[in-house]
Amino acid sequence: MSSTKDQWSAEAYSASASFVPKLTQKLLSYLVPQPTDKILDVGCGDGKFTANFLPAVGSVLGIDSSPAMIESAKKDYGNEKAEWRVVDCRYLDKEEAIVNGSWDKVISNAALHWILRDSSTRMDTLRAIHGSLKPGGTFVFEMGGHGNVPEVMTALIYTLVQHGVPAEKAKAANPWFFPSEVWMKNALESIGFHVDQMEIEFRPTKLTADANGGLAGWIKLMGAPFLDVLPGEKQDDAVKQICDILEPVVTREEDGSQWLGYVRLRGISKKI
Ligand SMILES: C[S@@+](CC[C@H](N)C(=O)[O-])C[C@H]1O[C@@H](n2cnc3c(N)ncnc32)[C@H](O)[C@@H]1O
Repeated sequence: MSSTKDQWSAEAYSASASFVPKLTQKLLSYLVPQPTDKILDVGCGDGKFTANFLPAVGSVLGIDSSPAMIESAKKDYGNEKAEWRVVDCRYLDKEEAIVNGSWDKVISNAALHWILRDSSTRMDTLRAIHGSLKPGGTFVFEMGGHGNVPEVMTALIYTLVQHGVPAEKAKAANPWFFPSEVWMKNALESIGFHVDQMEIEFRPTKLTADANGGLAGWIKLMGAPFLDVLPGEKQDDAVKQICDILEPVVTREEDGSQWLGYVRLRGISKKI
């Protein structure tokens, strides 16, 4: 979930999660990009994912709540076909220049589980995505699905409680919404999408070997909203404890590589 503090940086994202924009072949195959397509990328991040299809389409608007990520996208992918804008997509429905029925396709990778965390704005965001599309337009997405990274979630909550945070507060700090395929299909159909495809995939994912990334880097970047519940001076201790707990769970015997239990929810829907 976004907040006034920008937890993202293109450098930290690249060190700890460079695989996110890369492991997207299936999602990209669902986009079927056309040279005339006008595409909205929701939660575009630093533009690396967007750059996969940018050359094949007419134009792209990438929107993201992180000024640092948008800055990086502008720097690396400034291009007459690409526009990048800071937008908190929890309030996408307020963006009249975007939610205007003019987009051929909306795509989103690895961002909706952050954006949809807030239940009070969740359906408004999905309605805004629907409203932004032309009739017959396509919405393709991939996000964390039900049961995503359960080992990390458990270790984060446990460690906060160990540091004296009440259990309810620790659980409320969770920045993610990982819906099942049933929830997502029902939600999209309830607002006028026809769901062509909805799938959930268990996809164990190898963490980076980068000195600033790996397990600790991933926890610090992705788990920042959990860690922020603790005073700054306790956060390094907490990260160390979380890594200690997770080490035997995520490490492979054959080569010492570390893997998290990613579960992806992926879908294709059409605006009726
Ligand atoms: C894991 S990154 C994915 C970025 C990119 N789509 C990719 O595939 O590399 C998640 C992105 O979601 C963005 N995000 C989180 N909450 C958001 C919100 N409320 N509105 C817009 N973007 C948000 C973050 O800023 C971050 O760039």
